[in-house]
Amino acid sequence: MKQQIAIYPGTFDPITFGHVDVVERAAQLFPHVIILVARNTTKLPLFSGEERIAMIREIFRGRKGIEVEGFDGLLVDYARRRHASVLIRGLRAVSDFEYEFQMALTNRKLSSNLETIFLVPREQYTYLNSSIVREIARLGGNISYFVPANVRRRLKHRFARKP
Ligand code: COA
Repeated sequence: MKQQIAIYPGTFDPITFGHVDVVERAAQLFPHVIILVARNTTKLPLFSGEERIAMIREIFRGRKGIEVEGFDGLLVDYARRRHASVLIRGLRAVSDFEYEFQMALTNRKLSSNLETIFLVPREQYTYLNSSIVREIARLGGNISYFVPANVRRRLKHRFARKP
């Protein structure tokens, strides 16, 4: 376990305290964690890939063993290229399970060397997702419980009313 490279993939539009919690847990288990930002997704993200990567890099700046990268292709291809053998996913509630189960089995079919490990974020973050955070920010609500300060600033700026 200790020698392996772990990849934590996601859209991170934007990263929340829930994601940060999962990264911290993964970093306790693995010497090298790659936070992998899916640049092109079907989700039509609010922030560009580069913006999402920059926000995450700001949060983990100076942290040994935590790397942030963007990617466009298949997860299994990236993992193979980086010699990563572990995929990290967060499991918040039963509702996550079916989708995560499907993804884990598909990735295993595509690459038998890749093991998916599920980590459970702190219970105070189990209801969180990025859509809720974007919605609250868009409507001018307080998002300080949900996202780090740099993400809050960018969301505020993004939704600031133009004069
Ligand atoms: N805390 C808070 N929110 C969390 C969370 C946590 N711990 N874990 C997940 N979420 C939220 C995300 O914010 C996101 O919310 P949103 O839908 O409201 O934006 C949602 O849960 C799920 O998103 P995420 O964890 O980012 O995963 P994803 O489903 O967007 O990402 C990829 C999926 C990118 C990993 C997957 O599509 C992929 O691997 N793509 C590459 C192509 C490929 O290889 N495809 C085959 C895969 S089988």
